[in-house]
Amino acid sequence: MAAVLPQIKKFLADEPLRLYIGGKFVPAVAGGTFETRDPGTGQVLSRVAAGEAADIDAAVGAAQKAFDKSGWASMPANDRAVVLHRLADKVDEHADVLSQLESLDVGKPLGQAAGFDVPSLSQALRYFADLAVQARLREPIALRGLEAYTYRSAYGVCGFIIPWNFPLLLLGWNIAPALAAGNTVVVKPAEDTPLSTLYFCHLAQMAGVPAGVMNVVPGFGSTAGAALAAHSGLARIAFTGSPEVGRMVAVAAAKNLIPCKLELGGKGAAIVFDDVDIPQTAEKLAQAVTLNSGQVCCTATRWIIHQRIYSQFVDAVKTKMLAVRLGYGLDPATEMGPVVSEKQRSRVLGYLEKGQAQGATAVLQGGADSSLPGYFVKPALLAGSPENICAREEIFGPVAYLMKFSTPEEAIDLVHRSRYGLANSVWSSDVTRARKVAESLVAGNSWINAHNVFAYGLPYGGANLSGFGGGVNSPETLRDYLRPQSIVRPYD
Ligand code: NAI
Ligand code: MG
Repeated sequence: MAAVLPQIKKFLADEPLRLYIGGKFVPAVAGGTFETRDPGTGQVLSRVAAGEAADIDAAVGAAQKAFDKSGWASMPANDRAVVLHRLADKVDEHADVLSQLESLDVGKPLGQAAGFDVPSLSQALRYFADLAVQARLREPIALRGLEAYTYRSAYGVCGFIIPWNFPLLLLGWNIAPALAAGNTVVVKPAEDTPLSTLYFCHLAQMAGVPAGVMNVVPGFGSTAGAALAAHSGLARIAFTGSPEVGRMVAVAAAKNLIPCKLELGGKGAAIVFDDVDIPQTAEKLAQAVTLNSGQVCCTATRWIIHQRIYSQFVDAVKTKMLAVRLGYGLDPATEMGPVVSEKQRSRVLGYLEKGQAQGATAVLQGGADSSLPGYFVKPALLAGSPENICAREEIFGPVAYLMKFSTPEEAIDLVHRSRYGLANSVWSSDVTRARKVAESLVAGNSWINAHNVFAYGLPYGGANLSGFGGGVNSPETLRDYLRPQSIVRPYD
């Protein structure tokens, strides 16, 4: 078992952990606090100041001041890039602390936090810092008698509401393009997982990010989150989380008439043709649905299997799922940790119950694991009708729903039964067929013979219930944070 680092003990003991506003760590105006827990034990890790409307107001004010006066928005992109690269360096230097904090607060295996979550944050900072240096802020077109060009500049204060499944990674994917473009930001991390984001604020201070450029206000969704979404001082807002809250954020943004970017989860499908390598595909899909205990918006949760290989595939995947080692995040042998909270565990167990009550068969029962303290759920496989609640709704746990098909059209129709449209995959050794099916799916992303692969440079976003307003990690994402303006001068 990895020992908790002394820096972490010190960081957690300085409670209540404070908000980060205008370059300073400050208590919440109303003085409220909340507890954040280790989902692997259920124990409290620390107390955190609970921001509310007054704190959000102070943070937006600080961000506006920094936008107007700190020089962040007006400095050349390469000067901002120097600061963002320095921040990425700090993330890499403190990777051991950030990884442990992420593992403790979310419950994820330390190796995954260290190998994926934390490097994704520094990678996003570097990617957008470099992209902004290359961005053409003045783009002319040739018109008779007119000097005409598009000019692009930062919007102002951008708000971000982040969920608990990938706190640091989603922080990076969200704020890096906004910062690189010259905006200033106010972040509301999830109440279940505020720790790594607060630690990151210390790194921003060390890296010389000017005061007020990045502000972080932890707190509850209905108070801090709702106040941020409704704040009239924002120029833009981005939300990642449930469709229910996403709708509320979109309504609040509409009231202020500001652009809004939403990433609202998914019900990803994997279409498995009868020409695949069965053990290999079974292994990859078992990995996909148990990654981060199934709390992954884009993962494969509906497995649509060719009827000819169905029973062989089920046997292979059952073996793989049973072999997944559940355990505490800091234990190096752990392959899958707990889910994030008691609330999330009840949600997952509730779906397993409702799905079976509606007639789904438990191919692998899974469910509660009482042998471990904390919020553990064993991987489960259900099978049955596409109308079942577990085939339709996002569960956000280690649960896959199996269905059979015989023609490609049938498989595509099954994928499209879901109102989500984030990410699907097609598995076949016939690449031409796989590509054709992949292109026919209505979703932001389709993978071929893989799931959960993130390619920087392609816009990664959702369709339908999965959201709108642009994706992440591409040149288009940087453009989302640059306001276009046309400049026209007639000449003789
Ligand atoms: P949620 O949508 O309530 O939480 C996400 C973020 O929104 C958190 O920071 C939360 O504090 C904030 N929030 C909550 N209510 C708000 C409000 N009224 N105004 C503004 N912000 C608010 O998600 P929750 O309840 O934690 O999880 C429920 C389900 O949502 C999950 O089981 C999963 O299906 C889905 N989800 C999807 C995610 C994704 O990656 N797209 C991430 C997290 C959850
Ligand atoms: Mg909620």
